[in-house]
Amino acid sequence: MAQWIEGTVVDNIHWTENLFTLKIDAAVDDFTAGQFTSLALEIDGERIARPYSYLSSPGQRPLEFFFYTATGGKLSNALVRLSPGDGVWIKQGANGFFTLGEVPPAQDLWMLGTGTGVAPFFSILNTDEAWQRFEKIVLVHAVRTLADLRYQEMVEKLKQQHGTRFRFQAFVSREEIPGTLHGRVPLAIEDGSLQSAVGLELDLERSHFMLCGNPDMVKDATELLKARGFRKNRRRTPGHITVENYW
Ligand SMILES: Cc1cc2nc3c(=O)[nH]c(=O)nc-3n(C[C@H](O)[C@H](O)[C@H](O)COP(=O)(O)OP(=O)(O)OC[C@H]3O[C@@H](n4cnc5c(N)ncnc54)[C@H](O)[C@@H]3O)c2cc1C
Ligand SMILES: NC(=O)c1ccc[n+]([C@@H]2O[C@H](COP(=O)([O-])OP(=O)(O)OC[C@H]3O[C@@H](n4cnc5c(N)ncnc54)[C@H](OP(=O)(O)O)[C@@H]3O)[C@@H](O)[C@H]2O)c1
Repeated sequence: MAQWIEGTVVDNIHWTENLFTLKIDAAVDDFTAGQFTSLALEIDGERIARPYSYLSSPGQRPLEFFFYTATGGKLSNALVRLSPGDGVWIKQGANGFFTLGEVPPAQDLWMLGTGTGVAPFFSILNTDEAWQRFEKIVLVHAVRTLADLRYQEMVEKLKQQHGTRFRFQAFVSREEIPGTLHGRVPLAIEDGSLQSAVGLELDLERSHFMLCGNPDMVKDATELLKARGFRKNRRRTPGHITVENYW
């Protein structure tokens, strides 16, 4: 069982009413990009814990997490109120299999994330392994409104570092924003507008998909990809689709 240790909040960035980032100092064990840990606070005399993906890469300090304050959510609405210097419980060891070690060989890696579900992708994108293993990496960030489209500075830095090997595509579903795709990811795969926008085709020999965030997006996109012959990736039967559901 992983131990709880006490971390210290270094920064709390409030992006919007519902989105924030915590930077935390804590002596956690080494983890693998794409994994999650647990954070916890004492609320009304009870320790309330939830899983959160690392957005920071292995070795990077401070540790970084990207949050959505769920409506009526107990922990996220307490985490958002933390200030620099405050304590927060964190599990020393990380968990999860949403990592490149679980992804079989492929040329193109498609990362499809909704909301804060982009966090593990940034952790992975900032490792050398990602760029040693794949020719091209596509990051898709699907959000409701333009204000939810965060971490654009990191996207720009990745573009500068990796040129055309890195492709980024934003989806904004509830506003019409020039330069982004409107609507939902599965439909855009179905009608080919995502592939046109990023200049890359889906290919049974070349493509692997990592899906993270809203379980409805994960389910709908998986079903659509399966209908095109792509298979769920399992340890015993490697395939093309690796998923992480946030709720
Ligand atoms: C592997 C993993 C990684 C995650 N990483 C992140 C992350 O990086 N950033 C982030 O913001 N969140 C992440 N989450 C979600 C996070 O763990 C919490 O669920 C979220 O912060 C809400 O917690 P809460 O206590 O505020 O709300 P809760 O009181 O737990 O829930 C409030 C409402 O949110 C919805 N909801 C939340 N969690 C669930 C659930 N498990 N099942 C069903 N409905 C749910 C429901 O509508 C619920 O009524 C991750 C979840 C998993 C499983
Ligand atoms: N983000 C989190 O980490 C988190 C954690 C716990 C709970 N929640 C819960 O999630 C809700 C809001 O989360 P959010 O702001 O991150 O937004 P979200 O509802 O997950 O939406 C993010 C994007 O995903 C799209 N989407 C939703 N369902 C889809 C589907 N079936 N197929 C493809 N795309 C789909 C949305 O499109 P549309 O605009 O068309 O719907 C939107 O563009 C709240 O109810 C909250 O309690 C979120």
